[in-house]
Amino acid sequence: MKRKNFLSLIGLGAGTVIISSCLGACGKSDGPSPSPSPNPTPDNKVDFTLDVSSNSDINSKGWTIQNGVIIAKNGLNYIALAAACTHQQNPVTYQASSNTFPCSLQDAAHGSVFDANGVKLKGPAIQNLAKFNTTLTGNTLRVYES
Ligand code: FES
Repeated sequence: MKRKNFLSLIGLGAGTVIISSCLGACGKSDGPSPSPSPNPTPDNKVDFTLDVSSNSDINSKGWTIQNGVIIAKNGLNYIALAAACTHQQNPVTYQASSNTFPCSLQDAAHGSVFDANGVKLKGPAIQNLAKFNTTLTGNTLRVYES
């Protein structure tokens, strides 16, 4: 007797077989759940601190990238913008002489530049970079969004 005929004989169709095999597999776990972000906030907003006196990048080149945010020192102030270029997510850099944030890719197909407020000055990027708040207390810089 063929399988199809057997299943018809006992009153089970192909759909029943598929459903029962799915039910068995759906209850299984594929492993541990992903670990949470290192600095979670209740609403997943950017909110972290760094010690600017001991940050070697800030002290040597005037900027660093932490937690997806580029933090640049401009005189006594700090500027914090999303570090991923809105064109194709390559990291942006900081140019102190012009107080701008050029994309790290500056070839013929790239070359976006953003101002200190994250506003696009030059494409191909279309969107601006997100800007974050900074508060300096002693040597501790808090970077956060409201
Ligand atoms: S990724 Fe920045 S300009 Fe293309």
